[in-house]
Amino acid sequence: MENTPVPYYPTTGNRRSQRVGIATSGGNAPALNAVIHGATQELNLRGHEAVGIPKGWDGMIERQRLIRLCDLSHEKLMALVYTGGSELRNCRTKIGYEHFPKLKRVIDGYGLDGIIMIGGDDTLGQAARLNRQKVLQPVHERNNRNTSMFIGVPKTIDNDVEGTEQTFGFESAVQAVRRQVIDMKTDTRTMRRLGVIEVMGRDAGHIALHAGYAGGADITLIPEFEIPAKEVANRVADILLEQEYCVICVGEAYGGAEGNEADGFGHKNKQDAGKKLIALLKEQLKTHPKLRKRRLHNVGTSLQVVGYDARDGSPVAFDSILGGQFGGLAAHLADREKYGRMVSLQNGEITHIALSRAKGGRVVTELEYDPVTMRMWNIPKGVVPVVLRARRKAERAMRGHPA
Ligand code: F6P
Repeated sequence: MENTPVPYYPTTGNRRSQRVGIATSGGNAPALNAVIHGATQELNLRGHEAVGIPKGWDGMIERQRLIRLCDLSHEKLMALVYTGGSELRNCRTKIGYEHFPKLKRVIDGYGLDGIIMIGGDDTLGQAARLNRQKVLQPVHERNNRNTSMFIGVPKTIDNDVEGTEQTFGFESAVQAVRRQVIDMKTDTRTMRRLGVIEVMGRDAGHIALHAGYAGGADITLIPEFEIPAKEVANRVADILLEQEYCVICVGEAYGGAEGNEADGFGHKNKQDAGKKLIALLKEQLKTHPKLRKRRLHNVGTSLQVVGYDARDGSPVAFDSILGGQFGGLAAHLADREKYGRMVSLQNGEITHIALSRAKGGRVVTELEYDPVTMRMWNIPKGVVPVVLRARRKAERAMRGHPA
């Protein structure tokens, strides 16, 4: 079968044809392929050569053969928009000083003008560091001082990257988890149980918060807002007294739940948040007087741990589009030789900022989580401060302080 020719549009006035590498790194996330799609097609359209670097940093260190993305058939290129995973494959390797000489030799050998690096805060932080320390030299800049090599594309289902309102992959994870919350509600309602659904997200509760709200979880617990077990138990008791079942959506790092395995970046795996929560609540509920009276103090429990299901599927339409346009803008920046940037979503618009601003640790704030209802606010962020002020005033009044 012949490749479908793509029209070349010389609208951007690029001065030279570049060879641009595309790599994916870190945890899997839906729409990695959509970014590859958007970037490759836009590089093709501008007359550049798009090449894939397999296995992220590992592929560079191992000097893996480049994949000529620019030769992909139209059919294969189009399939990337909606397929899960990464055709280029990922790694979780941390780059250290010891890798710099090797990396330099390999990238020099590849003859790349730049690299579109698709990854989370760890990956992008490393790319920013390599830019800052001028480790790699883009082919076309050998005689100049500009040594920025990378353009970043923020990825992660956890949505915890600073500098962008949203990472691609997040929306798909939320939809997948939401489905499971809804299903769990059906089961626990039928079985009259206390159901706990534990979900990924590392130290950020964005997935739990969104999926819990949209799935109608009765309570959502996230690592950013630890609530005393007694308070949670009282809320559970009220809900049980009304409907005889209750579903809690809990972020995997709630209660400091940590396992013993760590990745190259020292991130410990999260483990047993749901199991520990159930044990704590059972302890509290069994002595609850009203529950005892209604014989609900020994309510049955179910635990559902949503693991890789949150990230292993195909992207939802929103992520295909966000990923595709993130990739397209990254290619456009490469065309303009604006390396050292990261594409990002700001006020609902796709734009770009300095790659050095890509940091982890974007967590849920009090403008998003209401510890009183123990779930996402029903009101938008902009209005929450008004409610918080009124609440604090009422609390002061109750304590006998003047308003
Ligand atoms: O960062 C994304 C993420 O999916 C987290 O939510 C989760 O804790 C972690 O990766 C687990 O990934 P892995 O087992 O691949 O290290």
